[in-house]
Amino acid sequence: MIIGSRDAGRAAEAAERAKGLVPDGDLRGLENAEATTAAEKVVVIAVPFASQASTLKGLSDVLREDQIVLDATVPLGPAIGGKPTTLVGVWQGSAAQQAQSLVPAGVKVVSGLHTLSADLLTDLDHDLAQDTLICGDRKADKAVVIELLSVIDGLRCVDAGRLEQSRIVEGLTPLLIGINIRNKAHAGIHITGLA
Ligand SMILES: NC(=O)c1ccc[n+]([C@@H]2O[C@H](COP(=O)([O-])OP(=O)(O)OC[C@H]3O[C@@H](n4cnc5c(N)ncnc54)[C@H](OP(=O)(O)O)[C@@H]3O)[C@@H](O)[C@H]2O)c1
Repeated sequence: MIIGSRDAGRAAEAAERAKGLVPDGDLRGLENAEATTAAEKVVVIAVPFASQASTLKGLSDVLREDQIVLDATVPLGPAIGGKPTTLVGVWQGSAAQQAQSLVPAGVKVVSGLHTLSADLLTDLDHDLAQDTLICGDRKADKAVVIELLSVIDGLRCVDAGRLEQSRIVEGLTPLLIGINIRNKAHAGIHITGLA
């Protein structure tokens, strides 16, 4: 796994921190464009909504048609000076659809990971026991992402439909942030009744 950053030094530090948690992991850090070039298939975008567009525009020369962008961006209120418990309306419908409008033609966007707390993901002693809702226009692209995420213990991926459904999924995050603030918790989601 390659961790990207605007700064190669910060990327290397992040990779070292991750190695502290997963000593056997094959991890390295590179500047964002170099990380994207070196990425085999899936490029994860996890930046604040306010910088999603500039980040993707900065990668437009290096993203390839054989790559899938897994976008975890949530358009939260702070992007426009608001609260993290509010969702910002996005002209394209969702952050994921904005991402699709910004990547080069042929590059497919899949969205997911919106409701997973970073604190829980980095606490490897905690049983995650959560779902993540995956949106995308092609089943084959979602299958690649779902296979990749299957390495995360306790995480179940649920296909939530086309990319346009991401508008609804992204809206769950500010809802959960409010629930978490009121309950001092790291609540996530679990869809019941599935086989
Ligand atoms: N944190 C969570 O628990 C969580 C859960 C679900 C979804 N999300 C979503 O995932 C995204 C990232 O969340 P986060 O909490 O990881 O955010 P973050 O820590 O504020 O930012 C993640 C990284 O984005 C880069 N970045 C920050 N400002 C930037 C800018 N102006 N331009 C370009 N890159 C910038 C930084 O990397 P460098 O400085 O190294 O370039 C930073 O380390 C958000 O859209 C958030 O809503 C977060």
